[in-house]
Amino acid sequence: MHFHVMTLFPELIEKGMHTGVLYRAMEQQILSLETYQIRDHVADKHKRVDDYTYGGGAGMLIQAEPVYQTYRAVMERIAPQEGARIRVVYATPQGRVFDQAMAEELAKEEDLVFLCGHYEGIDERVLEEIVTDHVSIGDYVLTGGELPALVMMDAVSRLIPGVLNNDESAMTESFNDGLLEYPQYTRPEEWHGKKVPEILLSGHHGNVEKWRLEQSLERTKQRRPDLYEAYMELHPPQPEKKKRKKKKKQAESCADAAEVMPDLRSDVSAEQQTGE
Ligand code: ADE
Repeated sequence: MHFHVMTLFPELIEKGMHTGVLYRAMEQQILSLETYQIRDHVADKHKRVDDYTYGGGAGMLIQAEPVYQTYRAVMERIAPQEGARIRVVYATPQGRVFDQAMAEELAKEEDLVFLCGHYEGIDERVLEEIVTDHVSIGDYVLTGGELPALVMMDAVSRLIPGVLNNDESAMTESFNDGLLEYPQYTRPEEWHGKKVPEILLSGHHGNVEKWRLEQSLERTKQRRPDLYEAYMELHPPQPEKKKRKKKKKQAESCADAAEVMPDLRSDVSAEQQTGE
């Protein structure tokens, strides 16, 4: 994945990407990052990129031409094949709200271009010409698009094969099914008088899976009723099976949990590997 970021603050993007997992992936050339200073594409010797808005109103707007020239520099660098569509993501509170599904969609691209605005925004005419996706990271207004671009690059990067190692990627699965992750615990067994739930010490993987699914459901219901409703629509409760013998019941409860949320299986085996 090659990221290209058009910005007035390239150092913010570079610093944000040169940490931990993402830095390692760049060293391994799984990811690359190129920043493009919009100010370098201003003809005016004062290097001013912004101007007043037509029609009046507070605030300044970034002019179309420097953004367009920056975009041309990006396209020269990418040199896309004839007919190839390069996604240009404009970080704006007026966009579609970014989520995991969009991260997955963007992770399929070879090159991703981000455009970061400042001040009151960017002249609409250049947006019409170059932007393919208007994307917001949530319903609040930030001072610029750099933090949203970093958020999106982070979420996309961790989906690129090889960016996360096995232990790290084992931790990523639960959101995929639309539920929040269950609570997790590590040593010591008792902390501030709070004990790790008994069931997690039992070594009974079927029961652990079932407990985790219940916890995920409960947590999602409490904290994100919107996600819970969507999940329940896709996974309507199954009618209870009656009169099962104890052993058969245990085996089935394991299978049931795995059926409703198959990714829990991989979580359990990942934990065994890490000795949690
Ligand atoms: N720029 C300013 N606020 C933003 C937001 N919430 N999402 C994306 N870009 C932004």
